[in-house]
Amino acid sequence: MATSLMIRNSIFFIIFACLWSLHDAKDTLKPGDTLNSSSTLVSASGKFVLKFVVQTIDGSNTSYIAILRDKQGANKAWIGNRNSPIPYPSSPLLTFDLSNTLRITNQVGNPIVIYSPPKNISSTNAFEAILLDSGNFVIREASSVNGSTNGVLWQSFDYPTDTFLPGMKLGVDRRSGKNWSLLSWATSYNPAPGLLSLDWDPNGKQLRIKQGGVVNWTSGVFDDGKFPFIFPEVSKQRYNFSIISNKDEDYLTYSAVGDPSDPEPEWVLYSRGTLFEYGAQVAITNAQDCDGYNTIGGCVRTDRPSNCTGKFGDEFVQKNGYFKIKDSSNTSRATSWYVVSSVDCKVLCWQNCVCLGFDTPADNQSSGPGCRFWSVDCEFIENSTGSGKTSSVFVLSSLTTPANSPPAKKNGRKWLWVVIALPTALLLTMFCIFGYLLRRRMLSGLGVMERK
Ligand SMILES: *[C@@H]1O[C@H](CO)[C@@H](O)[C@H](O)[C@H]1NC(C)=O
Ligand SMILES: *[C@@H]1O[C@H](CO)[C@@H](O)[C@H](O)[C@H]1NC(C)=O
Ligand SMILES: *[C@@H]1O[C@H](CO)[C@@H](O)[C@H](O)[C@H]1NC(C)=O
Ligand SMILES: *[C@@H]1O[C@H](CO)[C@@H](O)[C@H](O)[C@H]1NC(C)=O
Ligand SMILES: *[C@@H]1O[C@H](CO)[C@@H](O)[C@H](O)[C@H]1NC(C)=O
Ligand SMILES: *[C@@H]1O[C@H](CO)[C@@H](O)[C@H](O)[C@H]1NC(C)=O
Ligand SMILES: *[C@@H]1O[C@H](CO)[C@@H](O)[C@H](O)[C@H]1NC(C)=O
Ligand SMILES: *[C@@H]1O[C@H](CO)[C@@H](O)[C@H](O)[C@H]1NC(C)=O
Ligand SMILES: *[C@@H]1O[C@H](CO)[C@@H](O)[C@H](O)[C@H]1NC(C)=O
Ligand SMILES: *[C@@H]1O[C@H](CO)[C@@H](O)[C@H](O)[C@H]1NC(C)=O
Ligand SMILES: *[C@@H]1O[C@H](CO)[C@@H](O)[C@H](O)[C@H]1NC(C)=O
Repeated sequence: MATSLMIRNSIFFIIFACLWSLHDAKDTLKPGDTLNSSSTLVSASGKFVLKFVVQTIDGSNTSYIAILRDKQGANKAWIGNRNSPIPYPSSPLLTFDLSNTLRITNQVGNPIVIYSPPKNISSTNAFEAILLDSGNFVIREASSVNGSTNGVLWQSFDYPTDTFLPGMKLGVDRRSGKNWSLLSWATSYNPAPGLLSLDWDPNGKQLRIKQGGVVNWTSGVFDDGKFPFIFPEVSKQRYNFSIISNKDEDYLTYSAVGDPSDPEPEWVLYSRGTLFEYGAQVAITNAQDCDGYNTIGGCVRTDRPSNCTGKFGDEFVQKNGYFKIKDSSNTSRATSWYVVSSVDCKVLCWQNCVCLGFDTPADNQSSGPGCRFWSVDCEFIENSTGSGKTSSVFVLSSLTTPANSPPAKKNGRKWLWVVIALPTALLLTMFCIFGYLLRRRMLSGLGVMERK
């Protein structure tokens, strides 16, 4: 009887020890430690992991060192070697060597140095590379365990890729002369630097999405704790923004507020232009719709050259009516022209200085979809009662009487994360209960053993 109890207890003990060693995964590399392609650093409470991930780009596999949340389908919040992909197959190693250099080595190619300390470093203290629960990977003095930034030599938060996590900064670091900004991936599969950036404009107090220096989208000016184009009605329930401005730095940061059981915020700038809230699974903006002619939802318009038709503040409005040629005797240029293909008619018309508007004639079945553009030699005749000859056209707003345009719809976006959060929370709760029961059972088993 006693033997069987002991055997049972030992089994529990072994399971417990296994679980414990799994749970007790490392979050730190000490000088001399390496991380291989099949092992993982796990932050203290298990929120984030640091490991090698494989991306398949154009059919070939490459490895990257990445920080991501420890769950299925997690966003890769940080990539350490986006400029130096590691060809496959190879078994890369992340090494924090005895001289406090952090580097990736593999069988092919040169080592990729992520951090090397300055030659004149004065401290005699021991250093460590630790993955924090914020998702920040930090090289610091091993003694500064009080969470202050004292003794920090390097941190991944200073080298953002395409993701803005709570606690990260966007803005200007005057000490390093560097700006903290996001740079999208090159494509959906390729982490190499892409075309789009998200940065903080400290003077204008707004976030901006840019493509090659052109501002396509802004958040609107920060005021009263929120941005006009970042869920102004509800953002304070989720984001606590702070703007820090002093002689060393000028930046925006944020922390998560609200229900701690909601998925944490995680902003990702995708290569196509969507700024996505990965935690809530909702788009903050689709900058790809900001093609230069509208101002919807924070889009920035590239205005027509000043000698063009139209006025400042013009945009296209949809009207019933038709274009009529003013003077058919002056035929030195086309009064209307047709472009076949599924192009964006608005953009083409906006970019063409003499274009007043366009329609999409349905009767041109032989040539497929397209746009018919109308030039400055035409005038627009509005006829909202008409039928037959009149049809729906898009016209520069300055050519029409600003009449009964429908009131702009209130931006009533609802948070979607409840939909995501509920099943996740349920699942987590189940796991927790299971874990709790198992652990209690094991602990009581241990207790019995100790008492013997
Ligand atoms: C990676 O490291 C772990 C622990 O350090 C070790 O158990 C494992 O065998 C290593 N894997 C490879 C492929 O070297
Ligand atoms: C790339 O990796 C995936 C999964 O990791 C694997 O299924 C695939 O065969 C690999 N492709 C090549 C070309 O190695
Ligand atoms: C090390 O050198 C850099 C310039 O190369 C200097 O900015 C820094 O203050 C020096 N640090 C120490 C501890 O001397
Ligand atoms: C944290 O530790 C550093 C030394 O490592 C010390 O200078 C600093 O005052 C400590 N901060 C707090 C808040 O205790
Ligand atoms: C950093 O941002 C500031 C302010 O937006 C800007 O004036 C400066 O040109 C930027 N510097 C770099 C290196 O991008
Ligand atoms: C927002 O952040 C600031 C600074 O980090 C803090 O003082 C404040 O208490 C936070 N507010 C809320 C509602 O969490
Ligand atoms: C940004 O604006 C430029 C100029 O209007 C345009 O060419 C580009 O396609 C836009 N980018 C996105 C992502 O919308
Ligand atoms: C506007 O000016 C540009 C050059 O300055 C010229 O090429 C274009 O034809 C002009 N457009 C009109 C409608 O006058
Ligand atoms: C005829 O068109 C030209 C532009 O091609 C314009 O300069 C001229 O004023 C027009 N003449 C009349 C009578 O509208
Ligand atoms: C139909 O498309 C052709 C070009 O494919 C164009 O020449 C013609 O004017 C169009 N017809 C109408 C009614 O828009
Ligand atoms: C509008 O169209 C209808 C039918 O085509 C016509 O009877 C009416 O006179 C038109 N009104 C104007 C202002 O052109």
